[in-house]
Amino acid sequence: MTARILLIEDDPSVGAALVSLLQNQGWQVTWRHRAEDALALTVEESFALVLTDLRLPGKGGMEVLEHLRGSHPAWPVIVMTAHGSTDTAIEATKRGAYDYLVKPFDPDALVNLVEAALEQGPLRAEPVGVDEPSATGSSLVGRSRSMQALCKEIGRVAATSLPVLILGETGTGKELVARALVHHGARGARPFLAVNCAAVPEGLLESELFGHERGAFTGADRMRIGRFEQANGGTLFLDEIGDMPTSTQAKLLRVLQDGTFQRVGATESLQVDVRLLSATHRDLEREVVDGRGFREDLFFRLSGVILRVPPLRERPEDIAVLVDYFLRRHGPSLGMDQPAIRDEALRWLELQSWPGNVRQLEYVVRRALLHARPRPIGVDHVKRSLEPAASLERTHSELSAWIRQTLQASQRDGGGALREQVVEQVEAELYVQTIEKTGGNQAQAARWLGISRLTLRERLRELGWKSSTSA
Ligand SMILES: Nc1ncnc2c1ncn2[C@@H]1O[C@H](COP(=O)(O)OP(=O)(O)OP(=O)(O)O)[C@@H](O)[C@H]1O
Ligand SMILES: [Mg+2]
Repeated sequence: MTARILLIEDDPSVGAALVSLLQNQGWQVTWRHRAEDALALTVEESFALVLTDLRLPGKGGMEVLEHLRGSHPAWPVIVMTAHGSTDTAIEATKRGAYDYLVKPFDPDALVNLVEAALEQGPLRAEPVGVDEPSATGSSLVGRSRSMQALCKEIGRVAATSLPVLILGETGTGKELVARALVHHGARGARPFLAVNCAAVPEGLLESELFGHERGAFTGADRMRIGRFEQANGGTLFLDEIGDMPTSTQAKLLRVLQDGTFQRVGATESLQVDVRLLSATHRDLEREVVDGRGFREDLFFRLSGVILRVPPLRERPEDIAVLVDYFLRRHGPSLGMDQPAIRDEALRWLELQSWPGNVRQLEYVVRRALLHARPRPIGVDHVKRSLEPAASLERTHSELSAWIRQTLQASQRDGGGALREQVVEQVEAELYVQTIEKTGGNQAQAARWLGISRLTLRERLRELGWKSSTSA
């Protein structure tokens, strides 16, 4: 028996190619250019699978999905999108799409997906109910297989209340994943609070999370509501959970077990309904096994679902879309409306190992823009931007780690210019940020920095920047 597939695609050449690809596999294909026409067909005819483009004239793929969920919930729907941004793709999976593909895709991938969908389609679980999505939301950019797989998982778990533990190296986008979970989840309109466990001093974390009564400890001169209470009905994101002290872990475990806790210094228990998301760049699984400070029982409670964000070096195919995204995001604030990058520069970026992952890439693109402007970014610009950026990150601990490394390196080669080396790097970063803040206006940047415009120009030149045309 040949399966009947309904294809909705407005682009004539893409549509024709898909029809022949699918027919070659022995499937029967009905092709419509418009969603309205396709849906009209479904009133009388039956299909084993629907393959739809997302952007169509008139009704789009999302509406097709919505419609079919009501009229033919058992038909698997595969959505095709043409964008690096996976926001809509996540939304589609959450609304019950069987799967999605980001164009341009490998024909084999489509064939495999259709085969799998035809096999499992009728058995698949009912899609979860969701609220209307809001229009905005930070996008996770990426077209690699691993990012797409991650987005599908986000789509699947977003609307549940399961605790989610997000694991991944530094700068891979864990916080963005947490935001996507909230944005696409049923609690999207409710409070969303984040606490960085590594940034709150150890003695204060408990009160930050659970609040305290007046007089609970020295300095507690007022009662304080904690984050758990504030997030009631919504979501709490515990970032850097791996850095949570053991004493706080015990109290957190209890909230996860029965939803209750006490403010510090209180006797009365409070009940909350909070969805917990957590993240860490540390290898928590290993730390639990080795018995190094993280409680096993808490680990299991937190990890109702584990989402792993892959390091950038394992998905170089994402670099082009990410660079493009960062160019558009940072170009305008540096006074460039049409920022561009040369192919060989992009190729070079794709070959790097990115220990700081996406955050580092973003940083390098920003610096390269500043080096290159107003011309397109070339290989020299990216090369020059990578070295300092790799070592100089934003947080204090990273800054001191970087200074430690620089010290060691300088010790090895005999030293002598250490102060200058370090100060130059810091100065360079200060200038990048200030010039960026002023939208590329060097006169204003100089005033802000408290130096003359001439000095700024000279320093920039000494630091290796091309003189720029902007005033
Ligand atoms: N897939 C992505 N698409 C677009 N931007 C991204 C993506 N991944 C990361 N970024 C950007 O990279 C930066 C770092 O991301 P994020 O803060 O989410 O990383 P993280 O994993 O939480 O890092 P850390 O472990 O250091 O806290 C942010 O500016 C974020 O916007
Ligand atoms: Mg983070």
